Amino acid sequence: MYKLVGTISGDVELHEFDFTVTDAVRSNEYIKVWNDELEGWVLGRVVSIVDAAKKIATAEIIGYKDGRGFLMQPKSTLSRDGKVFKADQAFITDILGLKSGGIYLGMLDGRNIPVYLKKEELIQKHCSILAKTGSGKSYTAGVLIEELLDKNVPLLIIDPHGEYLSLKYENRNKEERKQMDKFGIAPKGYASKVVVYTPSNFSINPAADKLFRIDGINLSVNELYDLFPLSDAQLGVVYQCINEIKAKKEFYTIEDIIKGVSESKSSAKWRIVHFLERIRETGILSDSPTRIEDLVKAGKTAIIDMKGAEPKLQQMIVYRVCKEVFEGRKMGKIPPFMLVIEEAHNFCPERGFGKAVSSNILRTIASEGRKFGLGLLVISQRPARVDKNVISQCNTQIILRVTNPNDIKALSRGLEFMSAEMEEEIKRIPQGVALLSSPSIEMPVLVDVRVRQSEHGGRAVEMGGTAKSESKRGEGAGNGRRKEGRKSRIVRLLGE
Ligand SMILES: Nc1ncnc2c1ncn2[C@@H]1O[C@H](COP(=O)(O)OP(=O)(O)O)[C@@H](O)[C@H]1O
Ligand SMILES: [Mg+2]
Repeated sequence: MYKLVGTISGDVELHEFDFTVTDAVRSNEYIKVWNDELEGWVLGRVVSIVDAAKKIATAEIIGYKDGRGFLMQPKSTLSRDGKVFKADQAFITDILGLKSGGIYLGMLDGRNIPVYLKKEELIQKHCSILAKTGSGKSYTAGVLIEELLDKNVPLLIIDPHGEYLSLKYENRNKEERKQMDKFGIAPKGYASKVVVYTPSNFSINPAADKLFRIDGINLSVNELYDLFPLSDAQLGVVYQCINEIKAKKEFYTIEDIIKGVSESKSSAKWRIVHFLERIRETGILSDSPTRIEDLVKAGKTAIIDMKGAEPKLQQMIVYRVCKEVFEGRKMGKIPPFMLVIEEAHNFCPERGFGKAVSSNILRTIASEGRKFGLGLLVISQRPARVDKNVISQCNTQIILRVTNPNDIKALSRGLEFMSAEMEEEIKRIPQGVALLSSPSIEMPVLVDVRVRQSEHGGRAVEMGGTAKSESKRGEGAGNGRRKEGRKSRIVRLLGE
């Protein structure tokens, strides 16, 4: 009944054994062997083909379920000459504790066994996707986002490269469409659920649906300090200036502050004016700011597409929006949701790898978000450069191919399940295959991540940044109605 693939021979240790291959078997194949003492089957996994010519393979023992349903390791070695069989689906599913239903990530590598994550675990316990560029991080994030969208979980996506607006359109890639049957999915676009915000304007980002704006009325000294670092002397000048304005006006804008500061007698004033003017010129400040109740809504995904925003401004936006949604969640103003941070190393860098104003709030969300139904999905190609306080809070880890030794070291340090074998393994895993560790499963597994239902935006960006398919459709979506790029009301208010 079971397919015989070999016979135990050579080295037999408690957790590992060699076997002579008698039928085709691949690396990472799940196998089962009989343990005499237990009088039961034990699940194993082929770790490597040691000697292809002599047909010797090494397998590790995963374990068996005891009477209480706990995954156990046998305490006795397997008998030499024992038969090695290909493990059947029911046995693998049982031992690995694979559940059906939930967030569908893909198939167990090499097998037609679907791998699901529990929605609650994914959201409440945070998730990280780490790997080198081009290995499939954004693609995999897209898969999770599609699944969450299907379950009406609201999402807020920080999108530095404008990769995610393609969620609106169904996947047109011919090769991927051919694989959809295998994964049991169909093409699907999410146009009715996805809203793209731009912190720039519609001429820079014609594919955007709405402007993203920050409240520019009555900025306090603290808020200005968040926008750019002020020295004590500069703080003093701004503080005095704002107090003087407040005495005269109920509502004031950044223009009033610029005017006030430039009339000050301080020698530091021009530097402050320069900063203030730079903030004003970004156009991000408005008297009709984006409301978090509009960003985070049941069944909707908001994308903040950072196209056209310089890195410091991006960090400031992330800081502001994260602070507001965190407070909003605490007060129950918005529903529980998932916050997606692409290029997380730019927004919460590890010590020694730069500073970002958004670091602290992301750390707070990582450690406290779960209490308030605020889930975090962090994505980065430089695991070593992301704040380890943030990474260590992610209970679901999705690791794709990583080759940089520092990054591998960082992963090993941060993730308790990483073994020396796994370190070797993640250097070799092919594009689209992920090492998944999650509270939903008994032990880390390799998953062949399913193809996308919607279009993957990263693809076009890779093709020399032309974003062909994307911008074409984006323009269509914009309908030409924003050709000139409206300016925010505050800019007009300021007489520009
Ligand atoms: N699960 C997958 N199935 C099919 N193709 C994939 C998969 N994952 C990644 N790819 C391919 O790999 C390319 C790079 O993936 P991407 O997610 O953009 O990489 P990055 O890690 O840089 O974010 C994609 O354009 C896509 O063609
Ligand atoms: Mg990417």
